[in-house]
Amino acid sequence: MNAEATAFAPVGKDELAWLGTAPVPAAPYYESDWFEREREAVFRQSWMQLGHVCELPERGSFMRREIEVLKASILIVRGRDDEIRAFHNVCTHRGTQLVDAADGRRSTFSCPYHMWTFGLDGALVSAPDFESFHVAKADCALPPVRCEVIAGLIFVHCGEPGVSLREELGPLAEKLEAMPVAAATTFSEYVYEIDANWKLTFDNFQENYHLRFIHPAAAQPVCSADNPFGYPVSYGFHGAHRTQRIWSNPRMPAPAPIQGEAFRRGGASAMADGLLGSDTVKDYLALFPNFFLFGSPVQHFSHMVMPIAPDRSRGVIRLYWIGEDESASERFSREYGMATARDVHAEDRSVIERGHKGLASGALRHIHFQAQESLCRHLFNEVDRKVRGHRGGQPEAAR
Ligand code: FES
Ligand SMILES: [Fe+2]
Repeated sequence: MNAEATAFAPVGKDELAWLGTAPVPAAPYYESDWFEREREAVFRQSWMQLGHVCELPERGSFMRREIEVLKASILIVRGRDDEIRAFHNVCTHRGTQLVDAADGRRSTFSCPYHMWTFGLDGALVSAPDFESFHVAKADCALPPVRCEVIAGLIFVHCGEPGVSLREELGPLAEKLEAMPVAAATTFSEYVYEIDANWKLTFDNFQENYHLRFIHPAAAQPVCSADNPFGYPVSYGFHGAHRTQRIWSNPRMPAPAPIQGEAFRRGGASAMADGLLGSDTVKDYLALFPNFFLFGSPVQHFSHMVMPIAPDRSRGVIRLYWIGEDESASERFSREYGMATARDVHAEDRSVIERGHKGLASGALRHIHFQAQESLCRHLFNEVDRKVRGHRGGQPEAAR
């Protein structure tokens, strides 16, 4: 038995009071006006996670990703020099979206409208009857988008970042690079759309308070008499980003036979170490604004919540794997891991949508976060500060 785990005490509320204790205004969780302000103040000013290098295995591999909140379509390409670059998916002739396919491999990109053709580095390579134009080819490259890779994860910034993502993340960048996602070669993915604001959706995955009520079965690894709500062992706050370390239940009941089999086999075997009663702790890293990674030495799971509208979001959940599933049992194990994630998420989804409906009714002026919902409060604080500090925003004192 793990003495440290049984002596569990949640992080004290006085220790977290610096984040604020007041009720939190409800309007930012559903109002259109606030959402409009978030577009430029939050999403134009932030690095956003859009993929992983394993999606671009070869020179010429590309993917197109939509950032609806910025009305942007982004083309991410592995160049002939192996560099990964990002561009706006916009032909510089008259603005037509260049690429329709979600991903693939090409040596050039040709616009369907008048066949301007761009290289993997974004340069305009050829254009029919270009002599009739009044511009140089060198001035017609695809508009670049800042792109950075950390731990294999691809991030883009659609504005003008003051500092690189690596500088912004500081020690968190090293922590990410020590996680298995950095070596991932493939992943299982589950994409969903939900009728809820992005912050409400993201917050659901930032607190454990709901676990025992919404996930009575799945919560067993982290809820017991020692820690009835499965609260984390610790929290960390790093600028706009935040971390927590998940507690493991030392008295986890034995898994059902099929579940045990899945855990023992293949890529999910280390999930067992985390879930089945060892004292393994798990790190959760939330990178502002809308991405988190939850990892242990082997099992790793990411979730990105993309805003579409004030009341609509798209989530991308991934389980990253190292190596192919080379046997039927490994395949089963990975499928089991993904199916479990989907099941748990189905339990979350309806309560998130109910939350949005309730708030959007306008019945509440405020909501409440307790100490163990401090990551949610921290996200609110960071968004609030950025929206109010953005030009055109109201100063803090005017609240
Ligand atoms: S708009 Fe792309 S070639 Fe004309
Ligand atoms: Fe949940």
